[in-house]
Amino acid sequence: MTAILSDEPTILILNGPNLNMLGVREPALYGRDTLGDIEAACADRAESLGLAVDFRQSNLEGELVTWIQEARSSHDGIILNAGAYSHTSIAILDALTAAELPVVEVHLSNIFRRESFRHHSYVSLVANGVICGLGAQGYLLALEAMARLIEGKE
Ligand code: DQA
Repeated sequence: MTAILSDEPTILILNGPNLNMLGVREPALYGRDTLGDIEAACADRAESLGLAVDFRQSNLEGELVTWIQEARSSHDGIILNAGAYSHTSIAILDALTAAELPVVEVHLSNIFRRESFRHHSYVSLVANGVICGLGAQGYLLALEAMARLIEGKE
């Protein structure tokens, strides 16, 4: 894990499997922005909110679990688009519960307009809030929500 040397509250923005394919993956559903474009937009918005961001992606469930565990002592909140693991991963749910940090769940697509297996998310069971269907803008709205959640805690 990269050392975070910031005085500002640091938000871990985690992206799960296949989100590295944004831009080429089903653009009608997920938009044309790449994950790099989303990361740059998040960095800009975070700066204006007085937050630092640590933006990551992994296709591996265990790696996401490890990063969430580590965040407990190094980060102030987690914004998570767990991709398909949202619908399957009790391990990610357990890691989020143990982290005891504010969590905002994001999905680019509106999972409730899609197949029924996408209607349930384990992440939602621990998330303070869920944003879906607004594309890349959802990440920026999640950062705004996170700034409020952290303010409220202090
Ligand atoms: C997604 C929705 C998930 O159902 C899907 O498996 C993804 C992306 C979204 O951002 O809309 O990989 O999390």
